[in-house]
Amino acid sequence: MEKSATNKTIGTISKRLSGIDEYYFSTKLRQIDEMNKAGKQVINLGIGSPDLPPHPDVIKVLEEEAEKPNQHGYQNYKGSPVLRNAIAKWYQKWYNVSLNPDSEILPLIGSKEGIMHICMTYINEGDIVLIPNPGYPTYKSAAKIAGANVHAYTLTKENNWSPDFDELEKLDLENVKLMFVNYPQMPTGQLPTNQMFEELIAFAKKHQILLVHDNPYSFILNDKPMSLLSFEGAKEVVIELNSFSKSHNMAGWRVGMLCGAKERINEVLKFKSNMDSGMFLPLQLAAAKALELDQDWYDSVNDVYRKRRKKVFELLDLLNCTYDKNQAGLFVWAAIPKDAKDGFELTDRVLNDSNVFITPGGIFGSAGDKYIRVSLCATEEKLEEAINRIKN
Ligand SMILES: Cc1ncc(COP(=O)(O)O)c(C=O)c1O
Repeated sequence: MEKSATNKTIGTISKRLSGIDEYYFSTKLRQIDEMNKAGKQVINLGIGSPDLPPHPDVIKVLEEEAEKPNQHGYQNYKGSPVLRNAIAKWYQKWYNVSLNPDSEILPLIGSKEGIMHICMTYINEGDIVLIPNPGYPTYKSAAKIAGANVHAYTLTKENNWSPDFDELEKLDLENVKLMFVNYPQMPTGQLPTNQMFEELIAFAKKHQILLVHDNPYSFILNDKPMSLLSFEGAKEVVIELNSFSKSHNMAGWRVGMLCGAKERINEVLKFKSNMDSGMFLPLQLAAAKALELDQDWYDSVNDVYRKRRKKVFELLDLLNCTYDKNQAGLFVWAAIPKDAKDGFELTDRVLNDSNVFITPGGIFGSAGDKYIRVSLCATEEKLEEAINRIKN
């Protein structure tokens, strides 16, 4: 073997990735794959990836536009004006928010990438970022990769899974640069209230903290979609992320959006334009079509989830879990019975005994340890089968 002339080793990962684990689902799906190879046919009630297709008109636009010979080049870094106009109209119609399509909207390759872009745009080594516990794990990993110290603020059932502003005020907020919020909240399914949104804006203004509101679930099992940007003075302190993944059954398409003041869009673009080279134009045009869909679309999606949710309640009753029946979003969040140690133990037991995969609440933070989360992205038949397997 050739002798090395250096102490370096190929594959030494960067310091910024130390302490960052592989995404939980990425590891778990490997285990499920192994089980399936061994013939177990695991029913996956873990991930919130809609199993139904987008509206046929959306697919039609994608097909027609992709057939054209001149649609295949690099695209504008700020997204197609057609898509930005459609987003502006959609925000006006459903959220009563006025956005300038030329300067206050940035289409994204999914809102998950927007979380990373925002962190890379604003965070310096040592800045503090507030993240919800329980909350979407990407807030923590993106903030840490960007060099932040992360402070998790605890949400409790007693406080309706809302930030406890008295507790937040007790913190040393001097170095807090960003705060992630997400309502309807994932994983708890909690809806926002006007009062909570107003308090958030007042808190952010008082302490000069940029609020990042992640809003992908507002159309799922919720009659009144709300945007944090619809509140007085919000544009001074809020960036909002939104997504086609859940509301339009387009998770694999990777389309999302970032909305906020012109200055914020330009700041984020400074980073983002160095990362990607825009999105396939037919996909953007089809996404614009999706935003023209009317109430019937959202009703049809929600009819399906409402029926499935009844089955999920049945499944949770079998496991002696307790839950709030008015949750929004693609999941049901449920407290485990007193005799179970934690959600990890319960979900491992269900996976091993019944070949049904459910997400342990602890992956969303310590405040989720005594909870589990069941996805609505499986057919009623699959849910029925999961119930039968657990019964047996
Ligand atoms: C709270 C939350 N934010 C963002 C995302 C990412 O969505 P997208 O597909 O737009 O990247 C998810 C996906 O599961 C989510 O649950």
